Amino acid sequence: MKKTLLDKIKDRSAKIGVIGLGYVGLPLAVEFAEGGFEVTGFELLPEKVKAINSGRSYIDDVPDSKIAELSKNGTLKATLDDRLLAKMDCVSICVPTPLSKTKDPDISYILAAVDWVKKYLHKEMLIVLESTTYPGTTDEVIKPILESGGFKVGRDFYLAFSPERVDPGNPKFNTKNTPRVVGGTTKKCCQIATAYYKEILPETYPVSSTQAAEMVKLLENTFRAINIGMVNEMAIMCHRLGLDVWEIIDAASTKPFGFMPFYPGPGLGGHCIPIDPHYLSWKLKALNYYARFIELAGDINSHMPEWVIDRVTSILNEHGKSVKGSSIVILGIAYKKDIMDVRESPALDVMRLLEGLGAKVMYNDPHVAGIKWHNNVRRSVKLTAQLLKKSDLVVIVTNHSDYDYKWIVENSQLIFDTRNAADHVKTGRKKIVKL
Ligand SMILES: NC(=O)c1ccc[n+]([C@@H]2O[C@H](COP(=O)([O-])OP(=O)(O)OC[C@H]3O[C@@H](n4cnc5c(N)ncnc54)[C@H](O)[C@@H]3O)[C@@H](O)[C@H]2O)c1
Repeated sequence: MKKTLLDKIKDRSAKIGVIGLGYVGLPLAVEFAEGGFEVTGFELLPEKVKAINSGRSYIDDVPDSKIAELSKNGTLKATLDDRLLAKMDCVSICVPTPLSKTKDPDISYILAAVDWVKKYLHKEMLIVLESTTYPGTTDEVIKPILESGGFKVGRDFYLAFSPERVDPGNPKFNTKNTPRVVGGTTKKCCQIATAYYKEILPETYPVSSTQAAEMVKLLENTFRAINIGMVNEMAIMCHRLGLDVWEIIDAASTKPFGFMPFYPGPGLGGHCIPIDPHYLSWKLKALNYYARFIELAGDINSHMPEWVIDRVTSILNEHGKSVKGSSIVILGIAYKKDIMDVRESPALDVMRLLEGLGAKVMYNDPHVAGIKWHNNVRRSVKLTAQLLKKSDLVVIVTNHSDYDYKWIVENSQLIFDTRNAADHVKTGRKKIVKL
């Protein structure tokens, strides 16, 4: 008797396709390959395909050795060739979902990936969208496209949404040990998609619809964006009151219930927290509802780099210096600690604004060797005692773990610590100004 898709998932003979081998897609592809499935990653970028097929990783959380092992034993390969989709039984779509210039959702990458799938859609195929998006994308946008060829969802093929929750740089939680929420277009779609993830993940949590699953992800990320916005405003208020926001947060954190610490910083970055809530507010605008918390938090968070510049200006002023002509070293430009990702990083705004005011700005980041800067490349400078000594100000923007903060404080004239990264350094405190 011919095997059903469920049989193939359970005996791991199902062929898995992952469209988009980025921060989400590559770790997912690795988990399926490690779980004994044959996995093909579909990409647009030849350099990523080349890296995977030659056993190299380009993502911090995925070691080269893992890719080398999986590509050598043939369980993981990458391709630019969409025709191989015809052989896939299950396809996870992990492409970017950015905002347009007018801050509206840009789902063009999803549409391009779905167009690929549509060409090769066959009976007993499962398609799961993992990219973060607004409620309704899977059922209202993707389903009609996939059904336009004559196949019926829930009968001929299966469609689901399952939000990825990966937290790059998190040493404790990763794709493998984070529970999965799954919503299907039909009950059967949910059942099959849940079985698919159950093979490789510890826990799955089915919800009633794809819209519910889409909304879960937006709740999670909006929760973070709003709480970070609140604590950023708390930092501004504490500064006005002459209080140390870090001391206040630490003290409040001793309450064993009803409080969860969030920490202020130079602004939000990455591909999720600054972007995802706008997907929700955009959808609600179409329903004539203005998402006030989201807009307010977005406003506060997006203005944090400007507040950092105000603080830099007054810190230098107190030392009889102006921003113009000062030499300033930025430590850490990734959007958060211990990763190499600079997407939406507030450090880029801080650098741009300081340069706009006439400062001589350099950056060091052990994870980011170089970035595109005004049609050019800007490289991380070597962190030396001499560099720190001759700089008017060192701004700690990203609190990477591998910095020796004691040494940094010893050798710097003046430090603005936007992350309280040097909190543990007991000597030279007078040189440090906290956010
Ligand atoms: N990065 C995170 O921490 C994170 C966490 C949870 C969810 N997400 C969500 O997951 C999605 C992917 O994010 P990411 O960080 O992995 O993005 P990414 O930019 O790192 O990776 C996406 C990859 O998709 C490729 N791609 C784009 N269009 C394609 C197409 N049509 N066919 C094949 N490949 C294509 C790109 O070349 C890129 O390599 C987004 O919706 C994001 O919001 C991201």
